[in-house]
Amino acid sequence: MQLLSSLLFAQLPSLIANLTSPTAASTVTATAPAMATHTFTLPPLPYEYNALEPHISEQIMKLHHDKHHQAYVTNLNAATASQSEAFKNNDVKAEIALQSAIKFHGGGHINHSLFWPSLCPSSSPCSSPSSAPSFVAAIESQYGSLDTFKDAYNKLLMGIQGSGWGWIVKRNGRIEMEVTKDQDPITTGEVVLGVDMWEHAYYLQYWNDKAAYIKGVWEVINWETAEKRWGGKKVGDVRV
Ligand SMILES: [Fe+2]
Repeated sequence: MQLLSSLLFAQLPSLIANLTSPTAASTVTATAPAMATHTFTLPPLPYEYNALEPHISEQIMKLHHDKHHQAYVTNLNAATASQSEAFKNNDVKAEIALQSAIKFHGGGHINHSLFWPSLCPSSSPCSSPSSAPSFVAAIESQYGSLDTFKDAYNKLLMGIQGSGWGWIVKRNGRIEMEVTKDQDPITTGEVVLGVDMWEHAYYLQYWNDKAAYIKGVWEVINWETAEKRWGGKKVGDVRV
């Protein structure tokens, strides 16, 4: 299933190109049709670098967004350009060799693009659960209380071994919690919230104290974004 997902993900640009380009879809030639190369760009932060202080430092936000996320975007663009070339040359081995890089850097781009709007300044109304009446009602219906939900999510986040993400996903109208390793993205359901548990997200400020980082994240969770996503609106989704 994972292999299938990665193969589908790797082929996503060509699938979309075929869907959106009648010429590419309908022309059958002896050589492979040209595969569109998509250029991904770093989305700007929806707030200032220091907006999440004191819970997440300006230094972390600058490095995390401008260096780490930018690197995923840069490497994804390089990998998809190489994939386009490999596809054009019918070089299947090269295409296969590139799938890991596309999955990792593509996942990094997708995950961080979802992460930034999942946060907002603690002084703003968006950081209050009262900004998410429908989502909180669903939480209380499924978990009994917001505190029980938060405890369960905290356990999930604290249990992540190595680098990864903890997600709140809407599937079939219900809340599910899920961990993905490294930069694997969520590929089914709708992401409502996600927390980056890579050390680069907290180590400069919290050192090895993951629990303190998670406590800080709760202060800057963007409940308005969660409410929108719970209602089916896309916020921070990467477009190709
Ligand atoms: Fe990160």
